[in-house]
This record gives sequence, structure tokens and C-alpha cells, in this order.
Amino acid sequence: MSDALLTVENLQTNYGAIRALKGVSFHVDAGATVTLIGANGAGKSTTLNTISGLLKPAAGRVVFNGTDITGWRADRVTAAGLVQVPEGREILAPLTVAENLELGAYTRHDKEVAQDMARILARFPRLAERRDQQAGSLSGGEQQMLAIGRALMARPKLLMLDEPSMGLAPVLVRDVFDFIAELQARGTTILLVEQNARKALRAAGYAYVLENGLITQEGTGEELLQDARIVEAYLGSGH
Ligand SMILES: Nc1ncnc2c1ncn2[C@@H]1O[C@H](COP(=O)(O)OP(=O)(O)OP(=O)(O)O)[C@@H](O)[C@H]1O
Ligand SMILES: [Mg+2]
Repeated sequence: MSDALLTVENLQTNYGAIRALKGVSFHVDAGATVTLIGANGAGKSTTLNTISGLLKPAAGRVVFNGTDITGWRADRVTAAGLVQVPEGREILAPLTVAENLELGAYTRHDKEVAQDMARILARFPRLAERRDQQAGSLSGGEQQMLAIGRALMARPKLLMLDEPSMGLAPVLVRDVFDFIAELQARGTTILLVEQNARKALRAAGYAYVLENGLITQEGTGEELLQDARIVEAYLGSGH
């Protein structure tokens, strides 16, 4: 028995005739931060979206917390504690900040939802100040924090983040990675997808490289940061 919280085996996902995932296998241990790096179109989002139930795999298996969840609907996956912060944030612009956070808890039936929201708002004063404003009026950085806060409202055992730093100014990118470090320190298990490979490899204990729908390399974040091929392909342009 390994202590993998998430195991992905030979995952294959198609968009019509396009084979986006050609047999992706990897695992995430409980308490670890694992990153998936790769170029545009490599299949990173497709991997997360298949794990989270937004896409159905043509073949392969997803095992989470000891249960085979392959093909489960997204709401059931979320309720099981596997929660995704989607690429592009996908907050609901016409709803208020508080309503967006409440939506994150829609699969929960316990009585601590209000308490969790208070805690998240206490951590992000900018969101607290704007709790009754439309989420669409927030800045990009605030929207990213709202998207992460909304995911935390589901009380994830494993949090999947798809390009959380995308489109943000450097100071806000730092805020996002600082918050990821806080979540790690609290013991949250994280699967991080990033184009900012250098930051992702620094943040992660272990990393997989995805190319054209296949994992082509893996190692500790440190190992890949030193790897000439990775430097050449993903770290060259001064990210
Ligand atoms: N809805 C879709 N319909 C058809 N093809 C798609 C669709 N979404 C993605 N693809 C294709 O599947 C492949 C993987 O895309 P995916 O979005 O998973 O890549 P990614 O690694 O997340 O890229 P990016 O870094 O740009 O976010 C690409 O070839 C892409 O063009
Ligand atoms: Mg993507």
C-alpha cells in the first residue's frame, strides 16, 4: 500500500477525434504538493477536468481516497473532497462575493459553512470589504483569491489548481504562491498546474512533465529545476 491520496492510471480522454490524453498515469501522496507542468495544449487542463468529473475518460482509472471515482459526476467528486479551482477562475460575475463563496459549499450539509466563510473573509480582507459587491467588479487577483476561497468552502482533502497565476501581475503572483504555501503548511494536499514552471517546481515536492497527452518525465521539484532538458524547454525565458 502506498499512501497515495489520488492515483491516476492510464487516463485517456478524447475531444471527438482528438486524443488529448493518451494514457496519463501519476499519483499524489496525502499531504504532498505535486505539480504538472507542460506547454500550451499538452493536456494539463484536460487531466484536471477528467479527474474532477467535468470530462469523461475513454479509458483509465481515477482512484481517490481509496475509492474508484472514474466517471463520477463533478458534484459527487467535489462532495468526496476532490475540489478544482478551474482555469480562468470561473467565478460568477453577477453574484456577490459572499454568494460565490456560498456556492463553493453547495455539496455540504454540515452547520459550519458560515464559520468557514468568516475564516476565509478574515484571511482576505479585500474580499471581506467587498462581500456584498458583484464578483465581476473585483480585480483579477481578487477574483483568483475568490476562486480559491470558493474551493476551500468545499473543505477539500485535495485541491487542484489550474493556472492560478495566469494573467496576474508579479506582485499578485507572489500572493497566490504565498497562499499556496499557507495551504501546504496546513497539510492540504495540492495538485498544481502551472505554466510558470519555475515557481511551480519551487513550490512542489514532486513534479510530472506532460507532453502531448503523455507523462514524459518526473522527479522532485529540485531535480527538474536542475535538469538541462527542463531548463531548456520550460525555464529558459526568465519566468
Ligand atoms: N473543448 C475542446 N475541444 C477540442 N479540443 C480541445 C478542447 N479543449 C482542449 N482541446 C485540445 O486538447 C489538447 C489539450 O488541451 P488542454 O486544454 O488540456 O491543454 P493545457 O495543457 O491545459 O494547455 P494550456 O496551457 O493552454 O492551458 C489540445 O490539443 C487542445 O487543443
Ligand atoms: Mg490549461
